[in-house]
Amino acid sequence: MAAVTYEHIKTCKQTGARLGIVHTPHGSFETPIFMPVGTLATVKTMSPEDLKEMDARIILSNTYHLFLRPGHELVREAGGLHKFMNWDRAILTDSGGFQVFSLSDMRKIEEEGVHFKSHLNGDKLFLSPEKVMEIENALGPDIMMAFDECAPFPADYDYVKHSMERTTRWAERCLEAHARPHDQALFAIVQGGMYADLRKQSAMDLTSMDFPGYAIGGLSVGEPKHLMYEVLDSTMPLLPFNKPRYLMGVGSPDALIEGAIRGVDMFDCVLPTRIARNGTTMTSEGRLVVRNAKFERDFGPLDPNCDCYTCRNYSRAYLRHLIKCDETFGLRLTTYHNLYFLLNLMKQVRQAIRDDRLGDFRDEFFEKYGMDQN
Ligand code: GUN
Ligand code: ZN
Repeated sequence: MAAVTYEHIKTCKQTGARLGIVHTPHGSFETPIFMPVGTLATVKTMSPEDLKEMDARIILSNTYHLFLRPGHELVREAGGLHKFMNWDRAILTDSGGFQVFSLSDMRKIEEEGVHFKSHLNGDKLFLSPEKVMEIENALGPDIMMAFDECAPFPADYDYVKHSMERTTRWAERCLEAHARPHDQALFAIVQGGMYADLRKQSAMDLTSMDFPGYAIGGLSVGEPKHLMYEVLDSTMPLLPFNKPRYLMGVGSPDALIEGAIRGVDMFDCVLPTRIARNGTTMTSEGRLVVRNAKFERDFGPLDPNCDCYTCRNYSRAYLRHLIKCDETFGLRLTTYHNLYFLLNLMKQVRQAIRDDRLGDFRDEFFEKYGMDQN
């Protein structure tokens, strides 16, 4: 039995979206789901109690960052990531295949792995599929991602082809090196940029290796949204029905709904937590920048339609004051609301699938919310 399994509940008759349950060694959760990001073994400004109160079931952390600080051996010594950070629900770790390309200096990609310099102190480091498996086995998340290369956008066909083929060979090496398949599920990552035939090749090759779950990587890297949806339209049907499907790095409300409609089960994104820290919030009526002068004397809640801790207890005027003064409590309150908003949105998406009306829900939602630029 795989460490992580997908149980299908129903398909939305109006859209084809999936309602399911993913079972992990640290609890089960209904899908489609949004996973808050806790890069450095903490969802910035949130305690595990905060996250449980808003009903987060699985969070994401990062191999690349934890490898640099505090180091995977220290986390192993602490008893693994769950114990280290006091989070007893599910955890997924990304492999570093994205961060090493976006954050580090002086990358050199070879068949064996990637040489790079730490973005913190310039130390020369090396990550390979085997090394990443060693790190993720030490961290001990329920779901660990294979080491991949995320091609930039735009990138020419030959570059993306070679990078996708190497990602497939690396996935095979990850499978081989993974030491804990009984209690940690290794997910493969489909690459291939915006090229439908390369996506297809990647999906075929990876699914023949029988991973317990599959991710779509290389999206939301600066391409227009319609291209992302086209890639999902052509790729999602190629993935096995009875396994979880995870769209990496995507978390704007419109992409969550459109992704669910195309059969995605899991999403993660730094968007809600990152924008919260500069005072940008997501509300039922669209984005609201609470720093804005027009909220100076607005003593109403951030979102009158939200019943989160922030909206039940504090005003826009107070939030604006805290954010303007760089008070950390302000960051906590806006972060709490944004995460609550997306978790609640996914709860509504699941209910709409149950009721066979996700298409209507999408139209109603965007009527009020409008379209975000990212
Ligand atoms: N996060 C967002 N996109 C990607 C991707 O393509 N690969 C990995 N490993 N992580 C991601
Ligand atoms: Zn709220």
